Amino acid sequence: MAGVVGIVGTGLVGAAAGYLLALTPGVREVVLTDLDTARATSEAADIAHAAAFGSTALVRAGGYADLAGADVVVITAGVSLKPGQTRLDLLATNARIVSGIIERVLAVAPEAVLLFATNPVDVMPALAVRRFGLPPGRAIGTGCALDSARFRDRLARQFGVAPQSMHAYVLGEHGDSEVLHWSGVHVAAMPLARFAEQVGAPITPALQARISKEVRSSAYRIKEGKGVSNFGIGGCIARLTQALVNGEQTIFTVSTFMEEALGVPDTCISLPHVLGARGASASMMPPLDAVETVALRHSATVIREAIGAALA
Ligand code: LAC
Repeated sequence: MAGVVGIVGTGLVGAAAGYLLALTPGVREVVLTDLDTARATSEAADIAHAAAFGSTALVRAGGYADLAGADVVVITAGVSLKPGQTRLDLLATNARIVSGIIERVLAVAPEAVLLFATNPVDVMPALAVRRFGLPPGRAIGTGCALDSARFRDRLARQFGVAPQSMHAYVLGEHGDSEVLHWSGVHVAAMPLARFAEQVGAPITPALQARISKEVRSSAYRIKEGKGVSNFGIGGCIARLTQALVNGEQTIFTVSTFMEEALGVPDTCISLPHVLGARGASASMMPPLDAVETVALRHSATVIREAIGAALA
């Protein structure tokens, strides 16, 4: 890949992603596009000034035509959560907005990998595949990659180790039905329970429930305090894009449209995928305990129904 990344939508999420992408190794050019051209132009100028301190990336604003040749196009445009709403409440409005964006992006960058952040994010890859015929590996939702980072961060603080040593993943919907994959948590090569006992901090069902609630409600709590969550998702977008443009083959729990998951047809949930220069690999199903299996099947059903409503 040539390292050219487009961003459609330069609100607080797109701007955070654009800033981090301008500093991301392997990203050579960032092109910001927004209906509000004045905002896109100003964000591009502001980010370029930050990049001047240590990046060689070219940062500019442009229209859809300027996305021609982009390797990855990030889509953040859409309405954001209002107090009391869930991500699924944004379905009708954002599916319409994102469908129009997909059509315009593919007209100029038909080979690009599309990386969706607009909520309900797990529905958007399905629009690209089912409405526009994109291969599933090139229509990627940021999905639970952000939730997995939140899970790792919370566990790392609980047990006093760096998040990079905490291998913990969230699966399913990027939303209220998401599944924290507790049975798969490992610290170095040790299952969490074994590590916790050895450091004298046994993990109890009450602590697990508290941590699950904290991770699942992170966005709502952040929005209560500052009105929007933008740096977490911005960092997630930048890290996923880095893996794509550099052909890393790193594994993330992102969402892609799949014909079946746990017996649920036509869904799009976050599972482990290898991210590289050709986009996302086919999804992989980790071993789950009985409770996690039921919960993930429910999550797959929630997204299947949302996809059905969006494509109706
Ligand atoms: C969040 C938004 C990106 O979880 O859904 O912060």
